[in-house]
Amino acid sequence: MSESKPLTALPEWQALEGHAARLRDVPLRRLFADDAGRAERFSLEAAGIFLDYSKHRVDAPALDALLAVAKARGLAARIEAMFTGAPINATEGRSVLHIALRAPAGASILVDGKNVVPEVHAVLERMGEFAERVRSGVWTGHTGKRIRRVVNIGIGGSDLGPAMAYQALRSVSDRALELRFVSNIDATDFAEAVRDANPEDTLFIVCSKTFTTLETLENAKTARAWLVGQLGSDGAVAKNIVAVSTNGAEGARLGIDTANMFGFWDWVGGRYSVDSAIGLSLMVAIGPAGFREFLAGFRELDEHFRRAPFEQNLPVLLGVLGVFYNNFFGAETHAVLPYDQYLARLPAYLQQLDMESNGKRVDLAGRPVDYQTGPIIWGEPGTNGQHAFYQLIHQGTKLIPCDFIGFLRSENPLGKHHDLLMANLFAQSEALAFGKTAEEVRAEGVKPELVPHRTFPGNRPSSTLLLERMTPAALGRLIALYEHKVFVQGTIWGVNSFDQWGVELGKVLAKRIASEIEAAAAPALAHDGSTNALLRRYRKAQGRA
Ligand code: F6P
Repeated sequence: MSESKPLTALPEWQALEGHAARLRDVPLRRLFADDAGRAERFSLEAAGIFLDYSKHRVDAPALDALLAVAKARGLAARIEAMFTGAPINATEGRSVLHIALRAPAGASILVDGKNVVPEVHAVLERMGEFAERVRSGVWTGHTGKRIRRVVNIGIGGSDLGPAMAYQALRSVSDRALELRFVSNIDATDFAEAVRDANPEDTLFIVCSKTFTTLETLENAKTARAWLVGQLGSDGAVAKNIVAVSTNGAEGARLGIDTANMFGFWDWVGGRYSVDSAIGLSLMVAIGPAGFREFLAGFRELDEHFRRAPFEQNLPVLLGVLGVFYNNFFGAETHAVLPYDQYLARLPAYLQQLDMESNGKRVDLAGRPVDYQTGPIIWGEPGTNGQHAFYQLIHQGTKLIPCDFIGFLRSENPLGKHHDLLMANLFAQSEALAFGKTAEEVRAEGVKPELVPHRTFPGNRPSSTLLLERMTPAALGRLIALYEHKVFVQGTIWGVNSFDQWGVELGKVLAKRIASEIEAAAAPALAHDGSTNALLRRYRKAQGRA
């Protein structure tokens, strides 16, 4: 594991403090007034994404200094290490190869001396055949009925990716098929997903990288019992349940036919797996051709990330800008604001991608860090967020960098909707950046006592990302952009973005507590006073001693 110099000991890092101090009180109004070409200079178009980063509190020297930190942290070598299959997930001794999931058929990426690309394409081929059979009605349920509803059972990366992408790509999905997603251990999730379902035409896709996840196993058992109970035959399992996992043996224990299992590999992190077999439900919805287009979008961005110089590299720029606010402006959160209803689940998806990756408190060498790492990611689609939480972004006491994401063309061009939607996006980033001064408010004739209330300080930074249309390729590009941005930031902070030990303790405790809750005789509780009392209260409500 890396024993490199701590981040804060680097002169390049220390230099950022000076740039932040210099820029802290410089209004964006001034940066724009002083540089007529700022909007052009601080924008970039690559891999089908236009990025305007001119409304950030940086100038050319600050940006150079940020890129110098990325260089000093060995970003170029680390990108190459990832793309060539080095085991950069050091705490788990694994390669990190989600990029191999979208590599072209002829590519060669070696893991332990073996080219993994042919296996990736073999699985894609099998997924494609299966998806086509379901879509065309050749694959039927146990009683011979055509599949009309697909229920994806999974959680975290085995749920959020397909759920987000299905919603994003509804306009190109087969409307004769409906996808639902069951993730929560709360039975309500399952019960509502099947409430009006016909078991004969329902296909469950159980997705779990490990096949050891409590929620997914319990939901899969419930699905099996529901099917067998309703259809009166164990035979239903073979036709109405398929599985996606790296752990075929565990899937088989649940009674799922191994012939109906789709594999992937331990070098794909759960939160980086939407473009693996975990995307099977999505492929059924949008078809193999749509899925290939989705992968092509990722690939375009991968190529850009690997080859473009840092100063023209979208994930690198977004990554270093985020680091600047996170570490030198005290920004604790980052808002993702898609101006597209299809991307309603993108913020939730990015929460796992970013926060599970970079929510770390020790560096690769195991040293506690003395600086902030991953931010809190949150957001909602515009314009809904405007009528809910934007007030705080505009006039609150917290600095919240924002990503505005919009499309030049709507998939549903109705009346004036799209123009108005985009007008709102542009208006918000303008208002955040430039605000409204007290003089401007006074000049409008506002009563003096209301002037402070109606003044907007401005200087609230944002990126604007524009894409042509909400297509499978565009979604692939967007996801890869954020995957690589997280990678850039993780590299600068020197953390392992690919493990998630922080979720383990709660899982272990939940197992122990579950057995205490279920025990027939009153268990000897040895938790803290609060937890003991809560457990007793709950047991009592269940009629247990
Ligand atoms: O508990 C966190 C986590 O391990 C995520 O990283 C993962 O995406 C999720 O659980 C589901 O895991 P699995 O796909 O193995 O069921």
